[in-house]
Amino acid sequence: MQSDSIQKTVGVALAVCLVCSVLVSVSAVYLQSIQEENKRLDKIKNILMAGGLYDKKADIQSVFKEKITSALIDLSTGDELSEEQFTAKLSPETFDIKEMAADKVLGQALGAEDDIAGINRIPKNMLVYSVVENGVIDKIILPMHGKGLWSTMYGFVAMSNDLKTIKGLTFYEHGETPGLGGEIENPSWRASWTGKLAFDDQAQLVLEILKGKVNPASAKASSQIDGLAGATLTTRGVEKMIKFWFGKNGYGPFLKKLREASSNG
Ligand SMILES: Cc1cc2nc3c(=O)[nH]c(=O)nc-3n(C[C@H](O)[C@H](O)[C@H](O)COP(=O)(O)O)c2cc1C
Repeated sequence: MQSDSIQKTVGVALAVCLVCSVLVSVSAVYLQSIQEENKRLDKIKNILMAGGLYDKKADIQSVFKEKITSALIDLSTGDELSEEQFTAKLSPETFDIKEMAADKVLGQALGAEDDIAGINRIPKNMLVYSVVENGVIDKIILPMHGKGLWSTMYGFVAMSNDLKTIKGLTFYEHGETPGLGGEIENPSWRASWTGKLAFDDQAQLVLEILKGKVNPASAKASSQIDGLAGATLTTRGVEKMIKFWFGKNGYGPFLKKLREASSNG
């Protein structure tokens, strides 16, 4: 065979393709577990950030283990599931919002009227977190997700043990435009949520995100958040996400149970 023959050229090209595809496949398989572990750690970091417990220098897994308690709850009743109710698919260790929502048995479809957050399906159960200080619940941290302009945004909202005041907000997954909708991750915007009232004394949801700036002199300022300039569609999505998850199809029954428990002493 001549060294510049067509067969040789094709043969070399095929050999290069084969070697490259093997390399890509091997690295994809090898990196998958690392990527999944990084995603898990990023979620833990976001839970800590929402709960005001994130410290760059500390080991996040140790802080999480020490300070955070998780509970699997039934959204329809607000009751915590006991360990006997855990299964291979449904347990705090394996819980995955997307998998649970898609599951025929463990997920449920939302009717158009109920689906204010634009998420189609939700899990029947959710994994919620609390920050425990000296044996007492200090904050609860609730996973929430809702449709933005381009993507479904996944995050956590922390609420004080008064069950009214927001203590933190984070997003760990979204596909909104950097600099526009992506500003939902901006630390100063997120910080502006801390201390805002989500519920009034009658447990009515009062939190709203304005288009523009909050007037500090307004009587409603304590429950209003500045809109993100140039990203009204994403911020509408965040507001709808809050409305859905704090409502009757979200954490409404769970919050009602917590309010009853705290008023009974
Ligand atoms: C390429 C491109 C990307 C955009 N990305 C977003 C986005 O992520 N979130 C958003 O709310 N608006 C985004 N917008 C702007 C929206 O179309 C819309 O103008 C904006 O939400 C209105 O907000 P405003 O009334 O505060 O200007 C984008 C626009 C363009 C052209």
